[in-house]
Amino acid sequence: MNHILLTRMYSSGTVQKSAKLIRNEFLEYFEKDLGHTFIRSSPVISLNDRTVAFVNAGMNQFKGIFLDYYDPPAMKVTNSQKCIRISGKHNDLDIAGNDSYHHTFFEMLGNWSFGSYFKKEACHYAWDLLTKHYGIDKECLYVTYFAGDEKLELKPDLECKDIWLSIGVKRDKILPFGLKENFWEMGISGPCGPCTEIHVDHTKQLKNRSMQVNKSYTDLTELWNIVFIQYERYAVLSNGAIVPLSKHYVDTGMGFERLVAVLQGKQSNYDTDIFQPFFKAIQKYTKAPEYGGKFHNDKNELDSGYRILADHSRMITVALADGVVPEQINKLRKMIRRSIDVGEKVFKKEGILSELTYIVVENLGDTYPELQKNLKKILNFIIYYAYYIVQKIIEFEENLYKKLRYTCSKQWTKIIKTYPQLKSITEQLAPGLEDGYKYLQHVLHDLKMANILPGNVAFKLYDTYGLSVETITELAEIESLYFDKKVFQKELEDLKNRSRIGLEKSDVTAMKKSLEILEKNNVPKTDDSFKYKYTVNGNNYEFPKIESKILALIINGNIILNKANESTNKDINSINEIITNYDIESDKEEIGVILDKTLCYSTQGGQISDKAIICTKNFNFDINNVKKINGYVIHYGKLVQIDLRKCIEELKLKDDCLVLIEPEFRIGVMKHHTATHLLHASIQQIIGAVYLRNYIIIPQNLKCQFNSFGESLSLKQLNEIEELINNIITANVPVTTRILNTSELLAENSVTFIPGEIYPYNDIRLVDIDFRDLKSKEACSGTHVLKTGELEYFCFLNYFSKAATNFTLKATVGSLARSAKLAGENVQYKILDLENKLKNEKITQETLKAISKGIENEIKNDNNTPIPYLIKEECLVKLKYLNKIIRKQKEI
Ligand code: ALA
Repeated sequence: MNHILLTRMYSSGTVQKSAKLIRNEFLEYFEKDLGHTFIRSSPVISLNDRTVAFVNAGMNQFKGIFLDYYDPPAMKVTNSQKCIRISGKHNDLDIAGNDSYHHTFFEMLGNWSFGSYFKKEACHYAWDLLTKHYGIDKECLYVTYFAGDEKLELKPDLECKDIWLSIGVKRDKILPFGLKENFWEMGISGPCGPCTEIHVDHTKQLKNRSMQVNKSYTDLTELWNIVFIQYERYAVLSNGAIVPLSKHYVDTGMGFERLVAVLQGKQSNYDTDIFQPFFKAIQKYTKAPEYGGKFHNDKNELDSGYRILADHSRMITVALADGVVPEQINKLRKMIRRSIDVGEKVFKKEGILSELTYIVVENLGDTYPELQKNLKKILNFIIYYAYYIVQKIIEFEENLYKKLRYTCSKQWTKIIKTYPQLKSITEQLAPGLEDGYKYLQHVLHDLKMANILPGNVAFKLYDTYGLSVETITELAEIESLYFDKKVFQKELEDLKNRSRIGLEKSDVTAMKKSLEILEKNNVPKTDDSFKYKYTVNGNNYEFPKIESKILALIINGNIILNKANESTNKDINSINEIITNYDIESDKEEIGVILDKTLCYSTQGGQISDKAIICTKNFNFDINNVKKINGYVIHYGKLVQIDLRKCIEELKLKDDCLVLIEPEFRIGVMKHHTATHLLHASIQQIIGAVYLRNYIIIPQNLKCQFNSFGESLSLKQLNEIEELINNIITANVPVTTRILNTSELLAENSVTFIPGEIYPYNDIRLVDIDFRDLKSKEACSGTHVLKTGELEYFCFLNYFSKAATNFTLKATVGSLARSAKLAGENVQYKILDLENKLKNEKITQETLKAISKGIENEIKNDNNTPIPYLIKEECLVKLKYLNKIIRKQKEI
């Protein structure tokens, strides 16, 4: 269409495009007109980044490209990304629902250049799209650019200013701003750079409002951010410095909801066709008065209630459908609870959230098919099993909350009697509220002098008593203490980030300190890629023997470098001291050996590490435990046949060694790891909403703990799972492993991600088992067999569930499973025999009882070959029945 005509039509308000059309036009403009490749939205869980809990911008999935970890899928791309901003650097949780344009969940439209174009084109593309294609009057637009920062020695981005001038933007509408506004960073570390923003005046009054840009006017808001990624911010632990990147990139993001509001001529995002269906659904369901569009900043007020429910239901549904688990992300749980509260308090109705999940899928499902597919998959289950994953989790959370409120309400009445001033507290269920308040009372006298709630007291309330920042703020208000919530929140975030980076337990931290010595001495990291380099010869797996070099020993936490001169290295204790302190008799005294290369698998996820032997000319290490820390693989073991001094001396003369792993041990582990994937996939297939909380894989069996959101597995379902897995074993399907980078992984369909797992940017191993009835696709660093037939047979050994939230399954495959099956069949046969004997009148009741007792002992005796769980349960039921008959015979 003629652009001038379009512009006129928009200015005169004759055309109103739907949100869907607006989104499509954006993508088509970049795809078709400007040759960008469409990349679909990533899930909202942060896959390879500990620094953010959720994907908070379109660029998150491209972080690895900006940092040059791997090549881009195309030189210029476009996308519409699901984003969540409820924590960290970009946090809109408190404001969502209270204003017209911030949301906890929103869509970000973006275009990226990975070296194809830079500032000039990026600005032109954005300006043309807004003014020519969408027809926004350029008089309503303002642009900002980076004013530079002396401290960081960053110059003003005058190039950008000149580009806007050359485009024809009036000089007084091109405004410089500092770091806060015009230097974009994703989180505390990572790619970053100066940005230029396009702001829009929603009032379309055409008077100059330059002075009001970036001043939080709800009718003059940022619309599009164009970032010139040129730097990387290092992590806090590495001093938080900003360093230039070798390549330059473009990263842009436009708030979709804001764009729709502008193009539909609305003052608030909530007045667009994105949110209206939510309001209609809430109104229909609750029979409340219609949404009135008023802003009073009171969450108990009707219109705020409407907005909070619409906003939160989108965030909650998208997050749950993408596999986020409320138990793991407390903020998500809080949002669910807040929505329930709003539903009950403002709309006097339960179950609104569940209702709204349909609206989310209806409205976003076309754009994000994974959302629709995930829910449709569950829809199929409605026919058979009658629930949705998302709704099931919400229902589970609702029940959990109800129970909690019930138990807490009595306690609350008691608290209020003692401390009536706490009546106004919003989070009455906070478990540490009473004790926290008592503590506050205790320190109150000192605090009242200054009338300030200091950071250390607030931190104790937060950390020791588990109170939220909101509750702490409310307590401060009750006690008339000044509390700077924002400053505290910032300090808290910094602290969390620091602990997130230094995430390991203290022993690992101590070990890392020791390992720093290796880094200082330029000792190369261990190449452990050989752990995957096994081959099959006929029916046998062959593992390579690795000729390796010993680079260092770790004895009681002290590092001894190969050929190092300990007297010149202050970090290294004297060898004499180490040897004197070493207690060869103690089982605890293990020596850690660091090699240049190894084929040993280090304990990771739930897979146990290899058993191995490291042989030098004169001594052997039996390796029992292998850990990988900071890229160094440490082989822990006991010294065999040689004393420590000789060992150290030999190490200093000669460092060659041979590494061998125990093949049977590894094969057992590989079989059980593949079986774990099959089990995970089949449980997902059978009950839908489930997440793998924990697993342990050893050569003899596997043990998995699942969160089942209130559902336990029936014997029938367990039987179905066994059948599914045994069918795929019989079909002898290939287990394929592909090595992918993040972009390639995200392009794959139906991958199961483990919630909370952080994947590397590169070399992600995607393990794929694809059979008619069962498909498993998981990113996994474990070792697997090459064909399912090698598992031979699968059976459960145990099943127990706890508190309706967890169940644990123990299972086995291979020869152990076959023996278990035989042992089970043997018991089944004995029961059959007992049934026959029961019919024989000559056999006394005592004999029958003795036989029955014998069988029962056999079943329950764990020292024998284990019996498959399902056979065990079936036999125990039968025995119980037969015992009844035996007892009856006596009565007769
Ligand atoms: N990454 C930039 C933002 O989120 C475009 O604003």
